[in-house]
Amino acid sequence: MGNVVVIGTQWGDEGKGKVVDLMAEKADLIVRFQGGNNAGHTLVVKGIKTICHLIPSGILHDAKKCLIGNGVVVDPEVLIQEIDSLRDKGVDLNPGRLSLSEKAHLIMPYHRALDVAREAVKGQSKIGTTGRGIGPCYEDKVARIGIRALDLLETDVLEEKIRINLEEKNFLLTRFLNAEALELRPIVDAYLDMAAILVPYISDVSVEIDAAIRGGKKILFEGAQGTHLDIDHGTYPYVTSSNPISGAACAGAGVGPDKLHHIAGIVKAYTTRVGAGPFPTELLDETGDYLQQRGAEFGATTGRRRRCGWLDLVAVNNAVRLNGLTSLAMTKLDVLTGLKTLKICVAYELDGKRISYVPAGLKEMSRCVPVYEDFPGWKEEISGAREMSELPAAAGEYLKRIEKITGVSLSLVSVGPGREQTIELMDPFR
Ligand code: IMP
Repeated sequence: MGNVVVIGTQWGDEGKGKVVDLMAEKADLIVRFQGGNNAGHTLVVKGIKTICHLIPSGILHDAKKCLIGNGVVVDPEVLIQEIDSLRDKGVDLNPGRLSLSEKAHLIMPYHRALDVAREAVKGQSKIGTTGRGIGPCYEDKVARIGIRALDLLETDVLEEKIRINLEEKNFLLTRFLNAEALELRPIVDAYLDMAAILVPYISDVSVEIDAAIRGGKKILFEGAQGTHLDIDHGTYPYVTSSNPISGAACAGAGVGPDKLHHIAGIVKAYTTRVGAGPFPTELLDETGDYLQQRGAEFGATTGRRRRCGWLDLVAVNNAVRLNGLTSLAMTKLDVLTGLKTLKICVAYELDGKRISYVPAGLKEMSRCVPVYEDFPGWKEEISGAREMSELPAAAGEYLKRIEKITGVSLSLVSVGPGREQTIELMDPFR
């Protein structure tokens, strides 16, 4: 039995929530290792929608332990809201079921203020961040002035750190970003109140994972965002501030690479992106609208309309290499139903040359023209399919071609939002 990492192969919003939810059934521990409440997993359980931003999706499964690793940036206010709201829905959420790494960095009100003020100053060239303070929090982590969950245990240290940080942030906010200064006292008081609630959840997540592995337990590492939003390997600067690729599970949860056995890459049957940045296969026509509407493509966190386009296998192949994928989990195949012709981007044409990589430079990227292969579509509703043989032949051909071009086998195909609307092809924990 092995451990599994689930990551997004595109620009996020691949439908990881549902896949993680399915795989969580087979796991004992579910661990988040990067990002923060910029992520949002929409889960449909017994027909009821639930959105989780921070707490791993596995929390809906009784008797599973969920952990928030050191690589995650945690807004304590959001975490407490999620704990309360899940408790209201009857989810048992005691500290025995949820741990927060003592080394996780905390998002502070000045991080959110900086995120929003920086975007406002950028105007047209803004990144389109979620405004949740993710980038500024990671900046402080790297600048070695961040506030960690551990600091909630020492209230005098906490207050002093907030005071020192706020001096610098207020200078930036008022003198450079035309924004309002924040007051110290309300922040300190709010964080002291939240400390009282969160302290029982704080633990050494790396040690907990190690003990679980020694006890023969199965771990699911739940990635957020997607490979092309990676701070190093994504379409920089239109990226998030963490590494959503599989290797980050090691640093962000505190485990060695030998403990990651199966890397499942989630690939949506088409491509979407929220926020600004390159998107070679974007469709600004009625087909794009069809995908957007049929796929209900609105961001789970910000409610923004997602940009839509054809499946880009140059990008997916980039993700195959960067993540070392063992399998592909295809989501939202049912959204393609009703389109007469489908297209898959198999290469880019850059200045008259055919290339099969994603250029690092924005200028080159903007000159890339997708090279497409065309496929016949299908009209039949496929949400009832539970076996590959129950799919229309055209859908089968579409999937086979994806496996061929990526060289990676499918572990599941999702044909609807419900848990049961899935064709399962492989158990990644075996
Ligand atoms: P940030 O992560 O809020 O700093 O936003 C940086 C970029 O990443 C923006 O384009 C966001 O729209 C995008 N982004 C962040 N989180 C997600 C996600 O979970 N899904 C899709 N896009 C995301």
